[in-house]
Amino acid sequence: MPTSIALGADHAGFTYKEAIREHLAARNFSVEDFGAYSKDSMDYPDIAHPLAEAVQQQRHDLGILVCGTGNGVAITANKHSQIRAALCWNQEIAALVRQHNDANILCLPARFISEEEALALVDVFLKTDFEGGRHGRRVNKITC
Ligand code: RB5
Repeated sequence: MPTSIALGADHAGFTYKEAIREHLAARNFSVEDFGAYSKDSMDYPDIAHPLAEAVQQQRHDLGILVCGTGNGVAITANKHSQIRAALCWNQEIAALVRQHNDANILCLPARFISEEEALALVDVFLKTDFEGGRHGRRVNKITC
């Protein structure tokens, strides 16, 4: 079970990030908040790159990023060679990206899912383990 979580969002994901931070703190996770710290317009790579680097350096077990579509933060984080950032919009996908892809960053589309659903996806992502086996073979072929 992961205990240390890196959490970040741009302005579009700010409100959801705040809710996720409170949700995780209430469940005794250790959370580092990489910002944004307000709803003021900002550039998602300024959050996603430092967070991805922290996860890659294993300063945290897993990461969670939120932006409007989830795609900006996912595309950015996936530029880091050891990052597998996965865009998720339902609970089944949030489980499968852990089970099959060993995703280490969950990317959420704040403008397309409810806050309640976002929290449910976070819970599923954090409690689901990688299955290994044939999926391990495939994950080992990802980096180029
Ligand atoms: C911000 O308007 C929006 O472009 C951003 O949150 C994200 O959706 C980009 O991929």
